Amino acid sequence: MAKSYNFAASEIKMKKIAIFASGAGSNAKNIILTLNTSPLRGAGRSGEVTLIVCNKPGAGVLKIAEENKIPALLIEKEKFFRGNAYVDELKAAGIDFIVLAGFLWKVPPALIKAYPQKIINIHPALLPKYGGKGMYGHHVHQAVIDNREKESGITIHFVDELYDHGKIIFQATCPVLENDTAGSLAQRVHTLEHEYYPKVIEELVIG
Ligand code: GAR
Repeated sequence: MAKSYNFAASEIKMKKIAIFASGAGSNAKNIILTLNTSPLRGAGRSGEVTLIVCNKPGAGVLKIAEENKIPALLIEKEKFFRGNAYVDELKAAGIDFIVLAGFLWKVPPALIKAYPQKIINIHPALLPKYGGKGMYGHHVHQAVIDNREKESGITIHFVDELYDHGKIIFQATCPVLENDTAGSLAQRVHTLEHEYYPKVIEELVIG
């Protein structure tokens, strides 16, 4: 007789992901949607965004959390950098994996120690070029254009204690066109981010 596997909902333990973001949250939105509709979800071989962590009151990502009925945690600087970096709250919420998506604060050592090799970031350029403090959003794209680069792209990397520095996991490239502005290049790079970030996250959380 053919063997059938019937996973009861209670047996499926999906990895819980917290997204840390400071801005509009287009990556957060896309990750939530992609993972929610992933074909790997049925067998529990995917991840689920169960918490949005934000450092900026009024940021667009908070609205995205609300629309998707995902709890949001607004964090304070003092506690993040000089306190326990919210490790207790993240552990209490059962968070397995942390995804930075446009999160503009450095990640403190306490958090990195609590989640070794379980925190990743996306950067809108080809690291190690155009990374570091102050290199975010349009600043990155303007620097790429000013230097007359022919190519830009995305880098997904593990987070360590330096800005945009940990081990690189994945890169994808796109052209920089003659008449590009920071805005038009940002759009092209965002398209790459939306295509690849959820795929890399899914591979890492089930891996
Ligand atoms: C993304 O392009 C991300 O790569 C960048 O912020 C943007 C956030 O967009 N991150 C950095 O620059 C980190 N150094 P989103 O809020 O629409 O997802």
